[in-house]
Amino acid sequence: MRVEKKVALVTGGGSGIGAATSHRLAEEGALVVVSDIDLGAAEQVVNDIIAAGFQAEAHHQDVTDSIQWHDIVNGIVDDHGRFDILVNNAGIVLTGTIEDTTLEDWRQINAVNSEGVFLGTQAAIGVMKRAGGSIINISSIEGLVGDPLIAAYNASKAAVRMMTKSAALHCAEQGYGIRINSVHPGFIETPMVVNGVAAMGEENAKAFQEYVLSSIPVGAMGKPRDIANGVLFLASDESAYMTGSELIIDGGFTAR
Ligand SMILES: NC(=O)c1ccc[n+]([C@@H]2O[C@H](COP(=O)([O-])OP(=O)(O)OC[C@H]3O[C@@H](n4cnc5c(N)ncnc54)[C@H](O)[C@@H]3O)[C@@H](O)[C@H]2O)c1
Repeated sequence: MRVEKKVALVTGGGSGIGAATSHRLAEEGALVVVSDIDLGAAEQVVNDIIAAGFQAEAHHQDVTDSIQWHDIVNGIVDDHGRFDILVNNAGIVLTGTIEDTTLEDWRQINAVNSEGVFLGTQAAIGVMKRAGGSIINISSIEGLVGDPLIAAYNASKAAVRMMTKSAALHCAEQGYGIRINSVHPGFIETPMVVNGVAAMGEENAKAFQEYVLSSIPVGAMGKPRDIANGVLFLASDESAYMTGSELIIDGGFTAR
């Protein structure tokens, strides 16, 4: 029970890494608010968590909307009397090189991946500064190393990495007791990756899979639970001395 009695919010919790993280935090004793722009997906995850004997509730949330952030964060404190853990996980990917990315795609990716994390971190600090807490921002290996095919995604995930450090330093200086860290997953088998590969067409998909598997030192993609375990550590008091850090979970991809 590594996060017993804590109250957590996981954005984009209806799928992939967010769903696994919601399960993992609930298994270790947290009450987990699972939010997603797709309410049905969040409800399905919550039903599974409750059926397994743990505590969760589903909420609709678009992370790009500052008013919804204010409402959900204050609603959690009103309903449960505390708010300890925020996992800024919701994210999207659109492919495009620096030459063919449209301004519309650039803005859409950055609105969800970068502004969504900014709004969430700001809203959470507003209520957590009374009693402290842990904020975990899901970046990516793509926030550490470049990829010619995803220029806007690279930029959005690098923004998350550095915003995390600035916010962590601010909270430490102010003595709020709020820790903020980023997590950098490698290639993880989630709908984001599986659907993306399927949309490439058979030949490109095969080439992509060969490239991915040959470039991951451990020789396989990760599972959502591999990331959820890292998030759990950062959410728990076991990581009490960590703030402004980067936790890379990538099967060795960025070790070269
Ligand atoms: N899968 C990977 O290989 C990988 C690698 C590195 C980082 N990541 C990051 O991990 C996070 C989760 O990715 P995933 O692979 O589980 O993706 P996913 O597509 O399986 O799940 C993302 C969830 O976010 C939700 N979402 C999308 N836009 C939203 C919005 N505006 N407001 C609220 N919810 C929204 C979706 O409905 C979906 O349920 C993302 O930030 C992603 O960039 C994933």
